[in-house]
Amino acid sequence: MPEALSQPLASDVTQSQTRDARYASPVLTALRSATKTRHAILDRSMPLSDPEATWAHYVAHLQMLAAWLEPLEQWLSAFNDGPQGKQAPALIRYTDIIRADLGETYMPADKLCHNAAQHAQPDDAAYRWGVCYVIEGSQLGGEFLYKRLSTRLAPHPLKYLQCKQAGRWPEFLQAMATEVISPGQINSACEGAVNAFDALLLQLQARENIL
Ligand code: HEM
Repeated sequence: MPEALSQPLASDVTQSQTRDARYASPVLTALRSATKTRHAILDRSMPLSDPEATWAHYVAHLQMLAAWLEPLEQWLSAFNDGPQGKQAPALIRYTDIIRADLGETYMPADKLCHNAAQHAQPDDAAYRWGVCYVIEGSQLGGEFLYKRLSTRLAPHPLKYLQCKQAGRWPEFLQAMATEVISPGQINSACEGAVNAFDALLLQLQARENIL
């Protein structure tokens, strides 16, 4: 577990759409409770959390996400059930969007500290629902960050921060609620989500040790 988890909590993010009671489910409640502390750390510590963020922070933020996402997307694309099945929204490769957004600035991913895919049982779709909850949820802060940065970082379009598809998150939550039901499945989903958050937190910690 990253050392940062033992530090005091940051304030919670403002959660608007995600707190809509229509999307409540036992698995979502469990995922929120299992990952709330980890999200608060990312919310205050990612490069774009800096109120004076510059273009260099934008690049560092996206590169870190790409390094984290690349092995996860590769692993997820090998399945066709659970969150990769027909009932869930189709996989989006967010690394492609990051690559296109950064253009020539994009650099291949840094050495990985940890990959959440390594901990999964091959046929455990519930674990993948948890991992995908984190990947899809990571899009939700984009709108907030775009509003804060678009003028300061103009004329760059900050396309990655605007790539959230309307309706995708509720669709994902509804599909997850119908597929992840038993206590065992909910535990697996929480394990996947915690491992996915920890993989990014370790990247962050490695970066901070370098700086
Ligand atoms: C500067 C960094 C970040 C900020 C400012 C931020 C902000 C936010 C905000 C405002 C929401 C709520 C959106 C809404 O309700 O409409 C949210 C939700 C969420 N974010 Fe972040 N976020 C950040 C980074 C991340 C990262 C890197 C991840 C994943 C690794 C992540 C995962 C999630 C998840 C899973 C949710 C859904 C929580 C729920 O169930 O309600 N966030 N974030």
